[in-house]
Amino acid sequence: MAETSPIHIPTVDLTDLASDDPVRVERGAAAIREAFGVFGLVYIKNHGVDTQALDRYYDAFSAFVARPDARKRPYGRADIWYQRGWTPPNTEIAVAGNGQPDFKECYFAAPYPNDAASAAEFPELYPENVWPDAPPAYFEDGILTLGKSLHEAGLKLLRGAAVALGLPENAFAATCDRGPHVTRALHYLPLGPSQVNTGIVWGEEHTDFNLLTLLPGGRFLDPSGKPAPKPDDKSGLYLRTRATPESPQGQMVRGNAPAGCIVAQVGQQLEILTGGTFLATPHVITAPGVPGWSRQSAAHFMHVHTSTVLFPMEKFRSREAVTNYAPPVLAGTYDIKTLVDIGLAPASALDKLGYRHYDRLNRMRSGS
Ligand SMILES: [Fe+2]
Repeated sequence: MAETSPIHIPTVDLTDLASDDPVRVERGAAAIREAFGVFGLVYIKNHGVDTQALDRYYDAFSAFVARPDARKRPYGRADIWYQRGWTPPNTEIAVAGNGQPDFKECYFAAPYPNDAASAAEFPELYPENVWPDAPPAYFEDGILTLGKSLHEAGLKLLRGAAVALGLPENAFAATCDRGPHVTRALHYLPLGPSQVNTGIVWGEEHTDFNLLTLLPGGRFLDPSGKPAPKPDDKSGLYLRTRATPESPQGQMVRGNAPAGCIVAQVGQQLEILTGGTFLATPHVITAPGVPGWSRQSAAHFMHVHTSTVLFPMEKFRSREAVTNYAPPVLAGTYDIKTLVDIGLAPASALDKLGYRHYDRLNRMRSGS
């Protein structure tokens, strides 16, 4: 991806948002308004995520990824739409990716216990965690600790985002209560000599379908599997800015968090609730131009609760927003539709979204 830009993406300090000083709170709110309104992405400092523990977790994840596929296969659970456990390579696809699967394998875990009532309604969105046999040291604790700390940072940011838009502080954070949040570790696969510089990307351009995504930062692995500085400038996270009359395709900007910062991205659910005031961030993960290198990263996906109706909140319900986001959709069914779209759930899952008992009348009429 050649096009880069000197564009400056704001950083928000979470201690500003928690301050009693209205000047500091407004400084944080202004950063969020610009970052989420223009870029759909913000850098976060004073986030409370332990980056040394993250490295330890990546070591544990490496040890799992290094296992033969046959040993990982039992944890690739199509029956729960891969929402927990291992996502094998060549499984997930980006909707805009023309069917090209991403070059990655992943592990999903929920950092908080499931709400039983929600799990009864949407079993595949709230399955129990799946853990490998003889898990590498710190495999479970690592992802659970990471997920919780990213979630806490996300809630603080969501409170700041609500204040930034003149909403009650809990307007977004409250929608997350008992949501199907999930933390994911990702391993982007090494490209072979014939694959590099052919346009293959690690993660095709897409927008996240949840409310808010937290990214703690990743690391490259050299061809021997050791953590190493990036092999070249070709690989990384690029985001596409909002379209403007001068730049109808938006601009591709490298997501390059300042040292010590983590990243938060706007997902589709936050875009819908704000009627497009905040836009879901299109992003792509490009691969390096040298063979044999891989990359580890992690993401925590915060979701609105499955019983939330996805439609612009009252304040954002302009005629245009209503046109753009009608009809209102229940978040749980929205999640199901998206998981079908990206190849994780079977198309038959959509058949459950209407009445399923027409045959009862037929049976009664035939007396069987
Ligand atoms: Fe994403």
